[in-house]
Amino acid sequence: MASPAFVLIACFLHLAVSQNTTYQNSTFDPISYVNQLIGTDNGGNVFAGATQPYGMAKAVADVDGQNTAGFSTDSSNVTGFSHMHDSGTGGNPSLGNFPLFPQICPGDDVDNCNFQIAARKVPYVASSVRATPGYFALNLSTGIAAEMTVTEHAALYHFTFPTSNSNGTSPLILLDLTDLYASRQNASISIVGDGRMKGNGTFIPSFGSGSFVSYFCADFQGATIKDSGIWVNSRAGSEPKEIFVTRGINLFYIEAGGWLQFERPANRVVSARVGVSFISSDQACSNAENEISGDEWDFAGIKKSAEDAWRQKLNVVSIDAGGASQDLQTNFYSAIYRTMMSPQNYTGENPLWQSSEPYFDSFYCIWDAFRSQLPFLTIVDPITLTGMVRSLLDTYKHLGWLPDCRMSLCKGFTQGGSNADVVLADAYVKNLTSPYGAIDWELAYEAVLNDAENEPLDWSVEGRGGLQSWKRLNYIPALDYDYLGFGTNSRSISRTLEYSYDDFCLATIAKGLGKDDAYTKYLSRSTNWNNLWKSDTTSSINGVDTGFTGFFQPKYLNGTWGYQDPILCSPLDGFCSLTSNPQETFEDSIWEYQFYVPHAIPQLVELFGGADSFLSRLDFLHTSGLTDIGNEPSFLTAFLPHYAGRPALSSELVHKYIPGYFNDTTTGLPGNDDTGAMASFTAFCMMGLFPNPGQNIYFITAPFFASIAITSPITGKTATIKTSNFDNTYTNIYVQDATLDGESYTKNWLDHSFFTEGKTLVLTVGGQEGSWGTKAEDAPPGMTGS
Ligand SMILES: *[C@@H]1O[C@H](CO)[C@@H](O)[C@H](O)[C@H]1NC(C)=O
Ligand SMILES: *[C@@H]1O[C@H](CO)[C@@H](O)[C@H](O)[C@H]1NC(C)=O
Ligand SMILES: *[C@@H]1O[C@H](CO)[C@@H](O)[C@H](O)[C@H]1NC(C)=O
Ligand SMILES: *[C@@H]1O[C@H](CO)[C@@H](O)[C@H](O)[C@H]1NC(C)=O
Ligand SMILES: *[C@@H]1O[C@H](CO)[C@@H](O)[C@H](O)[C@H]1NC(C)=O
Ligand SMILES: *[C@@H]1O[C@H](CO)[C@@H](O)[C@H](O)[C@H]1NC(C)=O
Ligand SMILES: *[C@@H]1O[C@H](CO)[C@@H](O)[C@H](O)[C@H]1NC(C)=O
Ligand SMILES: *[C@@H]1O[C@H](CO)[C@@H](O)[C@H](O)[C@H]1NC(C)=O
Ligand SMILES: *[C@@H]1O[C@H](CO)[C@@H](O)[C@H](O)[C@H]1NC(C)=O
Ligand SMILES: *[C@@H]1O[C@H](CO)[C@@H](O)[C@H](O)[C@H]1NC(C)=O
Ligand SMILES: *[C@@H]1O[C@H](CO)[C@@H](O)[C@H](O)[C@H]1NC(C)=O
Repeated sequence: MASPAFVLIACFLHLAVSQNTTYQNSTFDPISYVNQLIGTDNGGNVFAGATQPYGMAKAVADVDGQNTAGFSTDSSNVTGFSHMHDSGTGGNPSLGNFPLFPQICPGDDVDNCNFQIAARKVPYVASSVRATPGYFALNLSTGIAAEMTVTEHAALYHFTFPTSNSNGTSPLILLDLTDLYASRQNASISIVGDGRMKGNGTFIPSFGSGSFVSYFCADFQGATIKDSGIWVNSRAGSEPKEIFVTRGINLFYIEAGGWLQFERPANRVVSARVGVSFISSDQACSNAENEISGDEWDFAGIKKSAEDAWRQKLNVVSIDAGGASQDLQTNFYSAIYRTMMSPQNYTGENPLWQSSEPYFDSFYCIWDAFRSQLPFLTIVDPITLTGMVRSLLDTYKHLGWLPDCRMSLCKGFTQGGSNADVVLADAYVKNLTSPYGAIDWELAYEAVLNDAENEPLDWSVEGRGGLQSWKRLNYIPALDYDYLGFGTNSRSISRTLEYSYDDFCLATIAKGLGKDDAYTKYLSRSTNWNNLWKSDTTSSINGVDTGFTGFFQPKYLNGTWGYQDPILCSPLDGFCSLTSNPQETFEDSIWEYQFYVPHAIPQLVELFGGADSFLSRLDFLHTSGLTDIGNEPSFLTAFLPHYAGRPALSSELVHKYIPGYFNDTTTGLPGNDDTGAMASFTAFCMMGLFPNPGQNIYFITAPFFASIAITSPITGKTATIKTSNFDNTYTNIYVQDATLDGESYTKNWLDHSFFTEGKTLVLTVGGQEGSWGTKAEDAPPGMTGS
């Protein structure tokens, strides 16, 4: 993206960092470095449209191609413009309710309009797509231009119609009751007063159980209304002015909605303002009226407010690029941007319980977000993260369980362990607190204890399954006899590993709160992963022995070993999902999961036969095609060489994956962004730090910029990571030496006080591995070391 700010950055080329580092001056505008189209093709499923940080209104063009997040740069056809979406999620499209669609109908005759999706959809002009924070625009091949911006709970559209159109002069805008996923159960629309459309619909969440009711309220400006009515399938009429539709009979899906036809607009533009709500259509109307008011809706002003909101979020981080390319700078700021789209702030829009606590939704899923996205927010946006944590606890209070995945007011499907436990432990060890209000840590302890001790009836959506066996046998058995609850009774290996870590997180909180007995008990349970280690299992690829012996294996209730090929569910041998072909590991192989004991890496090193064998396993994982860096379980594995005294190898991996796998192109993500999980991996790696979530540890690797400064929104102090000998060709990616606040620093990791106390880390880098951070005492603590 071209912008004057690039010129400015070019003025600050430093080959070596100076004592007086100059950051971007006051004309620096971080939003000019945001490219919202990154990951909008090739399955990244990134939301490209207009949103406020964590906003509920998310407006974009919806297409018939890769439409999980509405729009894709895959050159498919536009089916409408809708006001709510998720970002980066996999599987079914999420939300996309109540789309508008503008057209000019031949002869201005409503009978000649195209109402159904298949008939009305049109290609967009690829070169017309524009996306900046708080704004999205494109032109349809019919010559109609669409622009949109948003507030928290409302979208504002400008539809500009061609000056001359052989077909007619009276624009028609329809509203469709069909959502992107076509999950509508039943819905209503009515046209009231002076051309206001309002209504509701019951829909199915895209990766969860139950249903949700959503409401809208649409008003129009800029042209006199000529006629209005409703449409059903391919036909429309002026009477009646309202309709209620169900799913129809025999699965015959009725497409229906409302329409307005306008006189030729004076300045070619018809504006549409759409308020959304989960409470009522009246609330949707008042949201719109409160947030976008006045006789003439101020598109430029609304857009500016959204930009300012983003500026304020992104200004927390500034860089001295040191000659790093504009592509890398864009990759970095766009990544930070994407960590702040979801979870979405639905405070005041939760119909499920009355509460004065914040309510965040679109934790989609915590299995993805706990690893680096939510930890990233503890640094750059701890105030909002406090709101999210309080929301998780309030959800526990009212629904009885911490969420694991949650979207559109519904419970989503649990993938691994009870991963909110890790989020709470991570916030706890980082002393998360904010002017937003304190976190009730006793309540947090109770919620995590509940996950560890009580099995829910439906552990597909909350808590943990197989707890009877967990307590009795100290592992999750393959083919468990579980009569307490029902869930997808599979993933015994990945659940054993995840539950072990979840119990460690519980032990961490217990220890901090002075609950010594609980600490001892859960620390002991956190070693359960050992029970699935089978020391004589070997692993071959295409009949060739990998040379490694000893892997986790499934074990039955009677203690007999089962068997799962260690490469099964890796990119080399199929993909294992939750529903279609569940295996004993979830979405990844035993090869990947063998490293998932984030609290006990020193023991794992021992189990694997010492540092060298540990490192050769890691190397094999990252070079054999067994790992998929586009799926979250791989993230932490890139940093594990730190525990074996080889931080240089972690740095090599980071620089291999970025920009090779995470870059600033529309196809620049190796997998679904998962509400910003991939984004947070990118942003952390480029800063030269990465968390071990649930522990007060950040691994140090060579950053991508000469200097990065992060100002804590809570303490106001600025933490700085400077690179001496910075080399923008990234040959010098090996830390040779470090100082922390001027003192020599040999540890290869930092703790969170680095950010809250605004310390300065200076890394001297060179072209070859050095001795910095390689001693046993330099490694991060594990269970044995703590
Ligand atoms: C910021 O930098 C630009 C480019 O070097 C320069 O033109 C401008 O005057 C600077 N602004 C301030 C406030 O220093
Ligand atoms: C840093 O450089 C600026 C511009 O040259 C100068 O005004 C400022 O005094 C310097 N600060 C320090 C701490 O040397
Ligand atoms: C766009 O619509 C055309 C015409 O119906 C169709 O041939 C094409 O497959 C559509 N594109 C996509 C990506 O669905
Ligand atoms: C899109 O439409 C607008 C408004 O009609 C027009 O000014 C602009 O040139 C169009 N852009 C492209 C790339 O077609
Ligand atoms: C005119 O109508 C035809 C038939 O519906 C359609 O294919 C074409 O895109 C329309 N042209 C414009 C400029 O709207
Ligand atoms: C609408 O659909 C929901 C979910 O299927 C159902 O519970 C509700 O009763 C329906 N409402 C009407 C009025 O049919
Ligand atoms: C949806 O709107 C219709 C028509 O106004 C109304 O009868 C119905 O009660 C509404 N449904 C819900 C769930 O609010
Ligand atoms: C969430 O939204 C509410 C209502 O708009 C607002 O008052 C609150 O400040 C927001 N919370 C956070 C953490 O941004
Ligand atoms: C959290 O607070 C405790 C007690 O004040 C302190 O010992 C610890 O260092 C703090 N941790 C961080 C990460 O600031
Ligand atoms: C243990 O259970 C498994 C699975 O049901 C079965 O295949 C195996 O034969 C049993 N082993 C013994 C020793 O009973
Ligand atoms: C950008 O990332 C994508 C997705 O991982 C990858 O396929 C592509 O090769 C990368 N491009 C570059 C230039 O590294």
